[in-house]
Amino acid sequence: MQVLITGANRGIGAALDNAFAARGVSVLGTARDHRNYLPLEVTDPASHSALAERLKGQAIDALVCNAGIYPDKGQTLDDGYPADMWAQTFAVNGTGVFLTVQALLPNLLLSDKPRIAIISSQMASQTRAPGGSYIYRASKAAALNLGRNLAADLKPRGVAVGIYHPGWVRTDMGGSTADITVDEAAQGLVERIDALSIGTTGCFETWDGRAHPY
Ligand SMILES: NC(=O)c1ccc[n+]([C@@H]2O[C@H](COP(=O)([O-])OP(=O)(O)OC[C@H]3O[C@@H](n4cnc5c(N)ncnc54)[C@H](OP(=O)(O)O)[C@@H]3O)[C@@H](O)[C@H]2O)c1
Repeated sequence: MQVLITGANRGIGAALDNAFAARGVSVLGTARDHRNYLPLEVTDPASHSALAERLKGQAIDALVCNAGIYPDKGQTLDDGYPADMWAQTFAVNGTGVFLTVQALLPNLLLSDKPRIAIISSQMASQTRAPGGSYIYRASKAAALNLGRNLAADLKPRGVAVGIYHPGWVRTDMGGSTADITVDEAAQGLVERIDALSIGTTGCFETWDGRAHPY
């Protein structure tokens, strides 16, 4: 099995890399600016083209779109959330996911059980909408919506798409008071990705296997 993980240099991406590797799975990790990883800046179409060229003809069984940012923590409704923060966040969390899937679709189609895992968030949910973090929430909702629509389009082509909330995880993004460790999150996500199939395509699930409300 061949897995590719974006943003594999730290946080949940790095833990996923380790968790898959511990199962004997071959992992291609990408990072925007780190030795030992395949280079991928997810906002840059040229970077996607270069990665696709480098991996041409190589099957990918599971693509994990993990890279993400959350810059609007602590912004205030009255004078925060500047337009350039919206643009940058959507470029990574929304467009970045689409460009990654588009660039690596030929590789996925070479697999006999291709899967795409989009790491979204519970903050994507419209049902659970407690307010605040407007940019991050909207960008993760975009990733959820993208995953749902990709699931419909890719089902006839045999590619399953799952969208996941990884838990509130102790990383640079999640902070030190978050609920679970990166290893707990990664272990659960590996199990979810393992279980993902055409029969469950379009699912929105938590790391520990519960269906999440849309
Ligand atoms: N932690 C949580 O509690 C939590 C909860 C829900 C969802 N999530 C989601 O889980 C995913 C991983 O989060 P995390 O907590 O591991 O975050 P993190 O520790 O901040 O790591 C984020 C990763 O994304 C990469 N990245 C950011 N912008 C990029 C870009 N433009 N191109 C390529 N890579 C880029 C980072 O690379 P650099 O090192 O180069 O910056 C890093 O590898 C994210 O999608 C996040 O939204 C996290």
